[in-house]
Amino acid sequence: MKHILDELDRRRQQARLGGGTARIEAQHARGKLTARERLELLLDEGSFEEYDMFVAHRCTDFGMQETRPWGDGVVTGWGTINGRQVYVFSQDFTVFGGSVSETHAQKICKIMDMALQNGAPVIGLNDSGGARIQEGVASLAGYGEVFQRNIMASGVIPQISVIMGPCAGGAVYSPAMTDFIYMVRDTSYMFVTGPDVVKTVTGEVVTAEELGGARTHTTRSSVADAAFDNDVETLAEVRRLFDFLPLNNREKPPVRPFHDDPARIEPSLDSLVPDSPTKPYDMKELIVKVADEGDFLELQKDFARNIITGFIRLEGQTVGVVANQPMVLAGCLDIDSARKAARFVRFCDAFEIPILTLVDVPGFLPGTGQEYGGIIKHGAKLLFAYGEATVPKVTVITRKAYGGAYDVMSSKHLRGDVNYAWPSAEIAVMGAKGAVEILYRAELDDPERIARRVRDYEDRFANPFVAAERGFIDEVIMPHSTRRRVARAFAALRNKRARMPWRKHDNIPL
Ligand code: HXC
Repeated sequence: MKHILDELDRRRQQARLGGGTARIEAQHARGKLTARERLELLLDEGSFEEYDMFVAHRCTDFGMQETRPWGDGVVTGWGTINGRQVYVFSQDFTVFGGSVSETHAQKICKIMDMALQNGAPVIGLNDSGGARIQEGVASLAGYGEVFQRNIMASGVIPQISVIMGPCAGGAVYSPAMTDFIYMVRDTSYMFVTGPDVVKTVTGEVVTAEELGGARTHTTRSSVADAAFDNDVETLAEVRRLFDFLPLNNREKPPVRPFHDDPARIEPSLDSLVPDSPTKPYDMKELIVKVADEGDFLELQKDFARNIITGFIRLEGQTVGVVANQPMVLAGCLDIDSARKAARFVRFCDAFEIPILTLVDVPGFLPGTGQEYGGIIKHGAKLLFAYGEATVPKVTVITRKAYGGAYDVMSSKHLRGDVNYAWPSAEIAVMGAKGAVEILYRAELDDPERIARRVRDYEDRFANPFVAAERGFIDEVIMPHSTRRRVARAFAALRNKRARMPWRKHDNIPL
């Protein structure tokens, strides 16, 4: 019997070596960890259960039958993160550059099926040269099977992609259909066609980093949600993100122990909004002061910075935050910010995560750039996302809530559950100056009269009380008690039930 056990041990050791020590060293020399080292960091110690360790490809073209490494370039299985189950795959660049063969894809599909059946998230660590060239269409079919599972799992279990190496060709589309993409700076990139093809087709000369590096995807394209300096930091941040998320769409997010008084008073918030309506202030200060222990996980922080998205906890429970940022573009809505926030709102709604909306918005950004780019359709995405969301929605207007943007930002009219305003709130069709210039065009050459008109308009509309009179604002609250009011509002909404009419699916303006 002993020699049988020894044989298993020998095989396991060989499988664990992937493409061999020389390639492992090359991986390390690039500042990258191996597929297995990454899983060790991602998962709780000793929790990994591996499947399909001895799977080998079946390709016989190009002499491939001579090289059939066990595992076929991907390590798959499940483990736990802080005790909660997660299915994982980690591509092994040392085996044919982590390229996707028919069997490699089958391994990924197997754990995706299990994840869906058992209601646990999937995290994919991507480090792959794309379709295995020697396998041709069999490899493309494999990708297609993975894509279909990404679609079936969307909105049912959270899916997280971590890009830790090259991700080229159709390979980017599986991550693109997952909920979150994290990248590693300098060692990962994503593009549909690489720099060589770009040069041939368009004549543009561009490096891989410029075309699809972490900076590009976190600041320009918004494909990635966050980027970090190395594998270790990135995987630690994935664990942090995972802790905010439910295991599936039928479960609530985990409730973490908290050591922060939900009724904590923050006197500094009483002076957060400056006296001058045109002066900016940092909305992140409010988010951090409302959150349990000041912990805020921001997503897409370098893209469309005029809107902030991310997760906090209140009384230990996950809450998604969407907030206008007056520091950037005065916090106005534009194409990028509407798209960014709409996707986030839809994620929260799909996974029963309540949404806190903090509003200081002067309206939509005007201009041909926005109109030609389709702000009408993109702005409607956010409007639609809020209106269809049935999760608890609590809104706080801190200052401006003008025009259509007032309606969009989780107003009462879009089924906002509890809508608060600070006394500094100004809820109106537009700012005083703009309104007076339209209403009293004939008086524009009389500055004194116009100034009086502006003051009149401000007295009438630059406050929250007109909206409060109509019940569009449930209560005007003291800024210093925002955490307590918001926490109590969400507590009151814990058993909320709301439905949409039956339909196959809606037709959100994509
Ligand atoms: C088979 C591959 C491979 C692939 C890399 N390798 N990509 N084997 N199929 N797609 C192998 C290499 O032969 C090499 O093997 C090892 O992986 C490491 O590759 P290197 O080129 O030495 O590494 P590096 O210089 O770091 O370059 C990495 C790379 C490059 C940028 C990923 O290998 C590359 O450009 N590969 C091809 C990318 C590509 O065009 N893929 C197809 C995309 S189309 P040895 O034995 O020397 O270690 C696609 C369609 C999907 O994916 C469609 C889905 C719908």
